Amino acid sequence: MDRRDDYPLVPGKTFLNHGSFGATPLPVLRAARALRIEAEQDYPAFYYDRVFPVLEGSRRAVCDHLGIPMGRGVFVRNSTTAMQTVVDHLALREGEHVVTTSREYEATVVLMRLLEQRGVVVDTVDGRHEGLVERILDACGPRTRAVVVSHVTSPWSQVNDVDALTAALEGRGVATVVDAAHTAGQIPLPVMRPGVYLCLTLHKWLHLPKGSGFLVVPDEEADDVRPVVTSWYAEAETMPRRFSWAGTDDVIAHLVGVEAVAYQHEVLAQGLLTHWRVLTARAEEGLLAIPGVSTLARAPRSPAMVSVQLPDVDPEAMLRELHGRGVDLWCGLTDEGPVLRLSVAPYTTAADVDHGIGVLEQVLAGARRAVAAR
Ligand SMILES: Cc1ncc(COP(=O)(O)O)c(C=O)c1O
Repeated sequence: MDRRDDYPLVPGKTFLNHGSFGATPLPVLRAARALRIEAEQDYPAFYYDRVFPVLEGSRRAVCDHLGIPMGRGVFVRNSTTAMQTVVDHLALREGEHVVTTSREYEATVVLMRLLEQRGVVVDTVDGRHEGLVERILDACGPRTRAVVVSHVTSPWSQVNDVDALTAALEGRGVATVVDAAHTAGQIPLPVMRPGVYLCLTLHKWLHLPKGSGFLVVPDEEADDVRPVVTSWYAEAETMPRRFSWAGTDDVIAHLVGVEAVAYQHEVLAQGLLTHWRVLTARAEEGLLAIPGVSTLARAPRSPAMVSVQLPDVDPEAMLRELHGRGVDLWCGLTDEGPVLRLSVAPYTTAADVDHGIGVLEQVLAGARRAVAAR
């Protein structure tokens, strides 16, 4: 599979970091552009006749594709907004208890800190995969209102067993807030049990433009969850209507679900899963052949990303060096030392993978020489 021509990516640069921001393919961008022009030609007509039916068709296409019950999934700006929406809905009070993990996304870490400032008691358990579900369950007590956990943890590409966790929590009155930013388009959604909220991003792996998060709520809460921004329809009876308008804003990203899902069907039919398997295996082999690069602790990994441990380097300096040489990878300091993540997208080629790894090897060799010369 080589779908590079589907993407307006600048030539001469090697993009191996789809997991951070995603990239939108041209068929989706063209559909978005046509809608944007139509909207700007006559916004009142667009507002009164088009935006709500098109949004509803787009929302239904996403729900249908991801297996989300129609009344329970809505567009929001991003998964960060989805998390905030759920936290606001839970209205956690002083003395109530939340369990989270040490491997959450930074925005979630900040959100938890702000809850603590309000007197909510936040317990952070070790987020490594081995024994994680047991650690979370052990930390839950009579005052626990929510567990906040990622489906795929970002730097490590580690897939957490959210289904085992929510099965064990069922009936205990504990909400599970799942940061599922890497889920849609990459792996099946967790089982939607009572109390389970999914905070999705559609611009990473489901090809929508940026600004397309998606919130899925449990059936019993769908009548009550409100958008974080109160506008005209925030009191409407159905959840899709309540979330359909957040004031005048750029809504175009939410209108092209049909085209994005069609693109996903196309690349799946052309062997996307095999493409991921072949190129992530190639990447892992190439990365582990670099002196000093090693495997992370054993854990299930997401299919389109590879994460490895780097030798002792300054991740920020290394990223700058890689970017300076035209290679976009992701790397950061974690509880397993510096971790590098390489993503495989429909536009990624074997040559991209080999080139990115070759440049990384040179950069690491340079860093080793610099240390030796000190
Ligand atoms: C694990 C994880 N959670 C949340 C987010 C936030 O996503 P967004 O910026 O779309 O809100 C990201 C973004 O990279 C992520 O990797």
